[in-house]
Amino acid sequence: MTIGQQENARLRWIMLNSSEAVVDDGVDIIQGLQENPKTLPCRYFYDDRGSQLFEQITDLPEYYPTRTEQSILATHALEIAQLTGSCELVELGSGSSRKTRILLEAYNTVHQELQYCPIDVSAGILKTTALELLCSYPRLKLCGLAGTYEQALAQLPARELENRMLIFLGSTIGNLNTQECDRFLSRIQQALKPGEFFLLGVDLQKDIAIVEAAYNDAQGITAEFNLNILNHLNWRFQGNFNLHQFEHRAFYNPIEHQIEMHLRSLEPQIAKLEALDFQVAFDAGETIHTEISRKFHLPTLLELLEAHALKPLQTWTDPNAWFGLILCQRQCVGVECP
Ligand code: TRP
Repeated sequence: MTIGQQENARLRWIMLNSSEAVVDDGVDIIQGLQENPKTLPCRYFYDDRGSQLFEQITDLPEYYPTRTEQSILATHALEIAQLTGSCELVELGSGSSRKTRILLEAYNTVHQELQYCPIDVSAGILKTTALELLCSYPRLKLCGLAGTYEQALAQLPARELENRMLIFLGSTIGNLNTQECDRFLSRIQQALKPGEFFLLGVDLQKDIAIVEAAYNDAQGITAEFNLNILNHLNWRFQGNFNLHQFEHRAFYNPIEHQIEMHLRSLEPQIAKLEALDFQVAFDAGETIHTEISRKFHLPTLLELLEAHALKPLQTWTDPNAWFGLILCQRQCVGVECP
């Protein structure tokens, strides 16, 4: 797609990925692969290919979260836009922004100004999406930010509007363990002024068979997505992982209330990452833990948010209560309070 002057004037980019302050030296990969059991940081799922595969996952018949969250958003978007008043929308892990379009529509209807800042680790999907959105919404001003959540939350661009709402959909918060989740919510708290908003989408606890099917689809797209993390390491760090010698494994841990995702080595093997001057040996059957996806108990999560000065104002679910959408307002703490 080409971009006209019209659109260009409404578009800004911030590339935290390529800034010199951030060295992507792969230390986290070496660390993870030296642990027992082995792990890999989940952000390596999302190279451009990974982002495309994830988009396909969101359309799978078994993968209920996207569809369910989308239906909740569609039902309540206008209400959300009214509750928050005019504010700029800042989305962490925006991907294709497909669900966000529902919110943009609502804010476009209810308010004069439309300001959106999508943040994603994949610059590719960010660019394509930004251009499409600018064409769809003639009033929209957009500031795309390529980087990780941590980088982005620490360096958000100055507010263009009086207030802002941070948006974190898709139950991506479930991919953080309890400790990471705590740290993340503290960062959210710090990134908001008292009175500003946080909109969070979360997958809720339900029948295990439904959850397990969502991560073991019949077409094998989730398997391909999981395996793509090795492909990403191959191109990025001159690796020689053989994707045919690993298989996808996903199962529910009912004690931790989470899906656990692994890559299982089918035979004894050694893989190299040339650029990191690193090699790693696998036994037959040995696994790399690639992801968790926690499923939440809504009342417990509401308490956690409140403990981070993010007061839940409203919670919406679908009729089956499979998925929850929570609108929080940042409270003042200590010296901030009048
Ligand atoms: N946030 C998504 C989730 O937890 C990510 C996801 C979906 C995922 N399917 C996956 C991550 C498969 C790894 C592998 O549902």
